Amino acid sequence: MSEEPAMTTPVREQESALLEVRDLEKYYPITAGLFRRQVGSVRAVDGVSFDLYPGETFAIVGESGCGKTTLAKTVAALQEPTGGSIVFDGRSIGELSNRELKPVRRQVQVVYQDPASSLNPRKRIKAIVAEPLIVHDIGTKAERRERVDELLEQVDLPVEYKYRYPGGLSGGQQQRVAIARALALNPKLLVLDEPTSALDVSVQAKVIKLLERLQREYGLAYLIITHDLSLVKNFADRIGVMYLGKFMELASSDDLFDNPMNPYTEQLLSAIPIVDDEELKYKPAEISLKGEAPDPSSPPSGCSFHPRCHKVFDACSKIDPAFYDVESDHHVRCLLYDDDHRE
Ligand SMILES: Nc1ncnc2c1ncn2[C@@H]1O[C@H](COP(=O)(O)OP(=O)(O)OP(=O)(O)O)[C@@H](O)[C@H]1O
Ligand SMILES: [Mg+2]
Repeated sequence: MSEEPAMTTPVREQESALLEVRDLEKYYPITAGLFRRQVGSVRAVDGVSFDLYPGETFAIVGESGCGKTTLAKTVAALQEPTGGSIVFDGRSIGELSNRELKPVRRQVQVVYQDPASSLNPRKRIKAIVAEPLIVHDIGTKAERRERVDELLEQVDLPVEYKYRYPGGLSGGQQQRVAIARALALNPKLLVLDEPTSALDVSVQAKVIKLLERLQREYGLAYLIITHDLSLVKNFADRIGVMYLGKFMELASSDDLFDNPMNPYTEQLLSAIPIVDDEELKYKPAEISLKGEAPDPSSPPSGCSFHPRCHKVFDACSKIDPAFYDVESDHHVRCLLYDDDHRE
């Protein structure tokens, strides 16, 4: 077993990663008093590493407040990390000036959870979808008009909808507009932050199908963020399970569902009924997730999950586990997988 492994996937060793995230940290200062002195920090993202390959879908899953959106914004270069590094397409983002970042920002687009608030209600759909082309000064007016029609077609929206305002569309249609806008500049990576959680269940599946088709057609890579493991079971190639700013487990989607190794992952899976080959794999509430996640400004000692863990033992409150490479490409942060500390 090795500590903090380089997370590459053997089958893809020949190919270079599109995104390499290493020991990424984003701490927010907590200030108090008249002079706003820093009295502590919220460790929203606390040492996250992973690779994302062209055309791959990597999912980050975890409860509310575990740092998913912070990680997404940092990866999309919308905010600066306080530590660690992000290499996108061979370029280290931290070392680029604002001007040098512009072409990187073209390649990475974000789709947010709530389309109603991410689309300007006073602009017509055609203006919303054309916005990135205007910002990056691409094409003539006529070319942009043509591109908007093409993009609406790609996301299965009637072209006449371009004359409407967001308020005249359903939630699912609005999210299709947000996806069309994200595709306008031919990006290599889409960061999808809870892209379907504001939508009805029946609409969710359609949006996921659309994303799958677009990925096949354009070779897009996706970083999808969700609190819903069942949503990404078939959609994601690999999954990172996040808790209080850290990955607790990282594995291929199949491995994670067939053989969850971290007790936190087991608890998350037990909260959803999953039927596989007509057999109920995890019964809901078999092992239930107890209580709420702790405050990331004062995480518990040792393993941050120990107060809620059903497999806790003495050492867990004292020792912060490393990220063990238990099987090839299956990483787990848990003392159960440490020969020196297991009881
Ligand atoms: N700008 C900020 N300043 C201070 N603290 C912040 C800021 N943004 C996020 N946080 C804190 O960082 C932690 C992680 O927040 P984040 O929004 O990344 O979580 P999340 O996993 O996306 O949650 P949710 O599922 O609710 O969207 C939380 O404790 C949050 O309160
Ligand atoms: Mg969030």
